[in-house]
Amino acid sequence: MTDGTSKLSEVVNKVPPSAIRRFFDLANEMKGHVISLSIGEPDFVTPWSIREAGINSLREGYTHYSPNSGYMEAREAICSYIQRRYGVSYSSKEECLITVGGSEGLDLVARALINPGDEVVIVEPCFVAYKATVMFAHGVPVVISTKEENDYKLMPEELEAAITDKTKYIILGYPSNPTGAVMTYDDLKKIKDVLVKYPDITIISDELYCELNYLDSKPSSLIQFPELRDRTVMINGFSKSYAMTGFRIGYSVGPKSIIAAMTKIHQYCIMSAPSTAQFAVIEAASNGDSCIEEMRNEYNHRRRVLLKGLSDAGLKCFTPYGAFYAFPSIEGLGIQSDEFCERFLLEKKVAIVPGKAFGECGEGHVRISYAASIDDIKDAVVRLKEFVEELKNA
Ligand SMILES: Cc1ncc(COP(=O)(O)O)c(C=O)c1O
Repeated sequence: MTDGTSKLSEVVNKVPPSAIRRFFDLANEMKGHVISLSIGEPDFVTPWSIREAGINSLREGYTHYSPNSGYMEAREAICSYIQRRYGVSYSSKEECLITVGGSEGLDLVARALINPGDEVVIVEPCFVAYKATVMFAHGVPVVISTKEENDYKLMPEELEAAITDKTKYIILGYPSNPTGAVMTYDDLKKIKDVLVKYPDITIISDELYCELNYLDSKPSSLIQFPELRDRTVMINGFSKSYAMTGFRIGYSVGPKSIIAAMTKIHQYCIMSAPSTAQFAVIEAASNGDSCIEEMRNEYNHRRRVLLKGLSDAGLKCFTPYGAFYAFPSIEGLGIQSDEFCERFLLEKKVAIVPGKAFGECGEGHVRISYAASIDDIKDAVVRLKEFVEELKNA
């Protein structure tokens, strides 16, 4: 008897299931109210004007496939948004593809670029899909472990040390899930100075959280350096900044040749992104700036409340300036991150995620999402304080 895994592809067997899932499943199985600070999605409902644009499109009968790359009006709205926010222009016809979330962009880019054995530099701790998408495309992830003492920023010397003649691309994800770290324009400039020495390396910049930056409301990106603009694919989307996770809509902008290759795969595998969501995107990208700002201000308030609560609980936490996560240290408590989260869930009914789920260097930390109500955050930090005290007195 076999369990059937021998029939599966070697690469699928090699990629471990996401450790985040296990905690969602555990939390779902629990009886009574569980405070969830584990989820990576906004608790806000999508702003009404954006929902209404989708609803109106249905009323008008837009229930068909869109063009493969997406409706031209949606691509134009996205390219105008990028021009407005980043000051960089893209051709809506040839340099923009509408995808099923940023997730599809990450998968497409891996399949469009990687030949078996190519190396891809990944900066950990990071979003769980980076390594998996590279492995599914038969690439070899080369991990850089960022450090808390460097505020989880990528250091230019770390990048230079990871590059080999097999490096195909590097993927950067700032503001960061899970640490909340951001890279400023000056930080990115130092990375740019390394990358200009290696013209064959493509840059993938995952900017899903670009609008959730509490340090600087204008996003900074590697696409803003003219030397890199034509070597960089920006993966982006509406899930986080516009609270649109369920719409499953995102986009990639970048050099014509890479966008064309990604579109080819998208054509065969997906056909086109959801039409209703594309109408919502036209409204979001054209008129959504004030909605983003309102949500950003609220997250910023919650961020401060959480950080104060973590400090009261006696947990050291590097100050996150982006996304909606804090990544406090649990070192010194004599317990690994997965056991910490499992016991915290079972004993105090609060779900958070072990740092190790985002790469080996995340061990010794936990990810706490503040995309939750202020009341839940306040309640959770009181329980956290009790839990930490019990661990210390055990
Ligand atoms: C850093 C990062 N990139 C990309 C994604 C994918 O988001 P979506 O497919 O909903 O656009 C996520 C989702 O959690 C993320 O955290």
